[in-house]
Amino acid sequence: MNRAAQIARSYEISIDEAVSYIRGRTELEPLIALVLGSGLGEYAAELTVEEEIPYTDIPDFPTSTAPGHDGRFILGYLDDVPVICMKGRVHLYEGYEPWDVVMPLRVMRELGAQVLFVTNASGGINYNFSAGDLMLITDHISSFAPNPLIGPNFDRFGTRFPDMTHVYDEELSDLIREAAVEEKVPLKEGVYVQLTGPSFESPAEIRMLRTLGADAVGMSTVIESIAAHHAGMRVVGVSCIANAAAGMTKELLSGDDVNLTANETAPLFTRLVNASIIRIGKAVS
Ligand code: HPA
Repeated sequence: MNRAAQIARSYEISIDEAVSYIRGRTELEPLIALVLGSGLGEYAAELTVEEEIPYTDIPDFPTSTAPGHDGRFILGYLDDVPVICMKGRVHLYEGYEPWDVVMPLRVMRELGAQVLFVTNASGGINYNFSAGDLMLITDHISSFAPNPLIGPNFDRFGTRFPDMTHVYDEELSDLIREAAVEEKVPLKEGVYVQLTGPSFESPAEIRMLRTLGADAVGMSTVIESIAAHHAGMRVVGVSCIANAAAGMTKELLSGDDVNLTANETAPLFTRLVNASIIRIGKAVS
């Protein structure tokens, strides 16, 4: 076996071990995998919890070190929809390799999740956005982050050269739009671009990203969406615009302010996500 194949083999073993470990702690089979972004972790309290598993309990599993990211799986039900929730994700800027960042969602896929619902806090690039807005992610720009599928292809998950024309599922995104109308939650839409962080962008970079067609910028999500789409999951995403991006106002950016604003949107975010999950649960079960 060559070196790349050896690394891939040990990676697959880690995935299998994580799946067995989680199955050993709960029989819940999730339908929806929900990733809670910076400052949005409190949403997990909405679930009727069956089991909580800190990432540090799971053998060989990446752990969250970012502020505002608790670092645990929460398995439970929203009404009768079985959900596995990541309260806190792992990021490239913590020093993880791209394939490690996407390991948790591959594990959630193996546990049975058919849908990946990604959320995050982001900087608004679009002039029509304000801090506190929620944005449905309709497409992404991945070109500034390493591709998580680099390396040997895991045929058990998906094909070597996956198409990325429809990463964000149109039918399920329509259900989020419907949920927003019903809950009277204003919902923007746009293209999310992932940079690696951890430094925020410069004003010149924000102008560049706007020219390229991005509406919001953050340090996560896109590589997870790519790996989930590769693995055949139906992906949807909502971003909380936590601030106007660098240079758009006189304010300087800070991680604490991002978490604070994301926390403040919690009531709207919770209503939107609850109503969306109920609809998506019905549509896919
Ligand atoms: N840039 C990058 N990531 C972010 C931002 C931002 O302005 N706000 C929240 N996450």
